[in-house]
Amino acid sequence: MPEPSEQFGPIRVQRSGGIATVVIDNPPVNASSWDVRRGLLTAIEQMSADPSVSGIVLIGAGKTFIAGADIKEFDGPLRDPQMPAVIAAVEACAKPVVAAIHGAALGAGYELALGCDARIVAADAIVGLPEVMLGIIPGAGGTQRLPRLVGLSAAIDLITAGRRVKANEAVALGMVDAMSTGDLHADAVQLARSVQGRKRRLSELDVPAESDADIAAAADRAIGRAKGAAAIVEAITAIQKAATLPFAQALAEERATFQRLRQSTEAAAKRYLFFAERDAFRVPGIEHARARAVTSVGVVGAGTMGAGIAICFLDAGLPVTLIERDRNALDAGLARIRSTYQRMVDTGRIDSATMAQRLARVTPSTDLAALAGADLVVEAVFEDIAVKQTVFRELDRVLKPGAILGSNTSYLDLDVLAREISRPGDVIGLHFFAPANVMRLLEVVRGAQTAPDVLATALAVAKAIRKLPVVARVCEGFIGNRIYSAYRTQCEFMLEEGALPADVDAAITSFGFAMGPFAVTDLSGLDIAWRTRQRLALIRDPKARYSDVLDKLCEAGRLGRKAGKGWYSYPEGGRRGVPDDAVRAIVEDASRRRGITRVQMTPGQIQARALAAIVNEATLLLAEAIAARPSDVDLVLVNGYGFPSQHGGPLFWASRQPRAEIEAGLNALAASVGHGFRRGDVGKVLDQFKT
Ligand code: 3HC
Ligand code: NAI
Repeated sequence: MPEPSEQFGPIRVQRSGGIATVVIDNPPVNASSWDVRRGLLTAIEQMSADPSVSGIVLIGAGKTFIAGADIKEFDGPLRDPQMPAVIAAVEACAKPVVAAIHGAALGAGYELALGCDARIVAADAIVGLPEVMLGIIPGAGGTQRLPRLVGLSAAIDLITAGRRVKANEAVALGMVDAMSTGDLHADAVQLARSVQGRKRRLSELDVPAESDADIAAAADRAIGRAKGAAAIVEAITAIQKAATLPFAQALAEERATFQRLRQSTEAAAKRYLFFAERDAFRVPGIEHARARAVTSVGVVGAGTMGAGIAICFLDAGLPVTLIERDRNALDAGLARIRSTYQRMVDTGRIDSATMAQRLARVTPSTDLAALAGADLVVEAVFEDIAVKQTVFRELDRVLKPGAILGSNTSYLDLDVLAREISRPGDVIGLHFFAPANVMRLLEVVRGAQTAPDVLATALAVAKAIRKLPVVARVCEGFIGNRIYSAYRTQCEFMLEEGALPADVDAAITSFGFAMGPFAVTDLSGLDIAWRTRQRLALIRDPKARYSDVLDKLCEAGRLGRKAGKGWYSYPEGGRRGVPDDAVRAIVEDASRRRGITRVQMTPGQIQARALAAIVNEATLLLAEAIAARPSDVDLVLVNGYGFPSQHGGPLFWASRQPRAEIEAGLNALAASVGHGFRRGDVGKVLDQFKT
């Protein structure tokens, strides 16, 4: 008979046969918030002093061990006891302590496990130190204890990549000691008994010997990944101290770095994005809607996007019926899918058996009738409303009742498509980003008539295929492309006013974007924007400022990298664009034709204007309820358009700037755009960040 349990806040202790099981019960993910730390410390100290206890097992209630520190607490000072004190008590305890891990043992959760004398995992466990993803380094001994288990170079790889390691691999790497055979708790109790009072403190072990070259190579790999992220560089320094400083001193220095980084703007931005991602799934008004079942999917159009979209579903284990307009196009689409998988095999990301399994789930066809059994169809045919309307009308005829019709359109009016058919409530925009199988963002476009359960299904499907959905309402370009288009237009105006493409791109990349707008357009092709401009020519306000530089480039055959020339030229088909005098001539000619005296712009002025364009358009979108909340806009820009995540997205960034500077940027933007400029109530949006 188990003895009655003792309770210390969210911590429960159950004793049986001399072993005390300490259960952490802090739903939903057992984050180690203050009351957890306090309860754990009390429980460990009491069990340590109790002569009837010979060993301790730490285990999580619910679906997980401990997902990490409670990052909601990170905005203010941390209350005592802090995690290092809890771990010190585990190490000081004379009895062996075993961590029994199921679900996630991440960050402080895994650090607590590293403070124990042994670690045993269930098959579903995931362990790791993902702190750098939050702009911090491990702060409870992770940089000191993990190297003692796996060596310095492996620790550098694991910590700087923030890797979450599955149970099997964790055992193989030595990150944990044993795999449970089924009953995790029973196995952990057995382990606590078998060590018979012996302690195995990782802090007392030496760091395994390794060649300096291996350690330097791991550090170089990590620096290559860092892209300016302070946390990665600081993590390498901290890990290396495991081999050079006494344990206690290195531990104190790790904690000091953790505390300093925790209070940085970059860490605040990363935390904001963490919670923003979870908020994005909460869509007002559909709380009671139940997602429809989706067990088979159709994709119409197997071009660049369709092939990538099919892969997203195949990777998630769903069968896909792939439709093209003729046999040749179908074969080309299948070849695209096959070659993507082949690259994954070649780079060791999947094995060839997995590739074969995924490809076997594709049913190719040139007949839309093959979609009769599909629960969800995603259309990715040409960006042409007439072509899409025809496809939708045919889908309406062949799809079963309740099937969902998704469109991957980038700009077109979803409501026009929905009006075409007898079931407008089943229509939704599913705007994937290229490459669709790589990019996490999925704009979910809610049409005027989209049914709540169709929206709920889209969110559930997004989760199943590991995408980050952000819900948008219908407008030209939805959230992302509409903002991007305002930004790009402003960048083109700056060319007419005195900058050159390389000046703008350099200013934008020095802000932290991976690429500047002109390098991006060269990559995707100038003709996409050209076609959009032609489509919009009839409805454009003739008095509004319009830069025709891009049109002139297209007319000169400068369609981007694929043509060997665009905003830059690409000698011998190279990937690196070089500034081209022909482009300078077209730009300077545009200034002359508009009677603009060219004035050189500083990187700071370019950034201020480009960011003002983004922030202003985001504000207008929010006022029009195209986006539901500022954090949704930030997620779209960070995950779809290369906005640097260390700034948290344009609105988070703006909320942290002096208001006068933001106003000055908006004034400069207004003067540049001139006629028809719409100024958003930016102050009102940024006030929402004051809490
Ligand atoms: N702190 C506070 N809340 C957290 C949290 C954390 N560390 N981790 C998850 N949550 C919350 C989420 O916000 C969400 O709340 P909501 O229901 O109100 O939206 C809820 O827990 C469930 O989270 P998910 O939706 O993410 O659930 P999943 O089942 O999809 O994923 C998980 C679970 C894999 C544990 C995932 O939540 C996760 O990766 N969490 C963060 C892990 C992490 O980064 N840990 C390190 C923290 S830093 C640290 O420990 C510092 C140390 O070195 C001192
Ligand atoms: P694409 O030209 O590479 O592919 C379109 C495919 O659709 C072609 O293979 C074509 O044969 C096929 N197709 C055309 N009409 C068809 C029909 N009636 N039935 C079956 N198949 C048909 O174009 P891409 O780039 O894949 O774009 C597709 C859609 O995705 C467009 O709406 C585009 O705006 C959108 N999109 C494109 C992005 C990109 O970066 N390329 C990003 C996000 C969305």
